[in-house]
Amino acid sequence: MKKVSTPSFTKLPRHIGLIMDGNGRWAKGSGLTRLQGHKRGRKTLQLIGEEAQRLGIQYLTAYAFSSENWLRPKDEVFGLMTLLRESLQREFDKFTERKIRIRFIGDFSKVPDKTLTIMKKAEEQTRDFDRFHLTLAIGYGGRQEITHAVQKLLEKMHKDGGSPSDINEADIQANLYTHDLPDVDLIIRTSGEQRLSNFLPWQSVYSEISFVQKPWPAFGLEDFHRVLADFQNRERRYGKISEQL
Ligand code: IPE
Ligand code: IPE
Ligand code: MG
Repeated sequence: MKKVSTPSFTKLPRHIGLIMDGNGRWAKGSGLTRLQGHKRGRKTLQLIGEEAQRLGIQYLTAYAFSSENWLRPKDEVFGLMTLLRESLQREFDKFTERKIRIRFIGDFSKVPDKTLTIMKKAEEQTRDFDRFHLTLAIGYGGRQEITHAVQKLLEKMHKDGGSPSDINEADIQANLYTHDLPDVDLIIRTSGEQRLSNFLPWQSVYSEISFVQKPWPAFGLEDFHRVLADFQNRERRYGKISEQL
């Protein structure tokens, strides 16, 4: 593989969200099965994860399986769940060695027990690391996450009393799966699709977004560096005008 050196950047995102799309199309174009495409996708996540950590990016959140992906054919769903379990088993020691804090966000009610057990073990094992946070969205949907937060707030109100008008944005934020993660600064979606597909709607209201043509298995370090270089040149105004920043 070609050696790519890491450039230096003046301004990096603190939190990157990855919509790792295009595994299936990449596989088809390469004469492989969809599952083989997902396996190659796992490699890309390792590559980009390691580079993000090397660069000092603190938070990386990767969309691995959406709430809508449960509607895919059973064998693909099963293959993805097995791949997740095997990947976690294989990488387990590496998380500790490299001090990676791993978290999962989503609704895990349909995740097979064997996969869920290793997910919990990985979270437990890495809970004290705080320099690099890798979060995998599994069975995740943004609307479902917000609905869940509202349910939790209403349950609390039912129990402790209070008025609906007391609910503020911070209360909603505090009840999201991502309650202990900062907002997303940059979302990268591969494979040419220009949509967010239910990924982090609350957390991305002021995210910069980069849509990349290449499918996820073909996304490399140079592509990642290009997106980061582009991010440096963006002016984030948050509704204000330039002079006020
Ligand atoms: C992304 O690749 C991975 C998951 C959604 C699990 P896809 O499987 O969506 O690949 P395409 O979009 O069909 O090429
Ligand atoms: C989004 O990709 C979900 C993940 C990358 C896990 P999809 O392939 O499911 O999205 P759509 O269906 O093209 O919007
Ligand atoms: Mg897709």
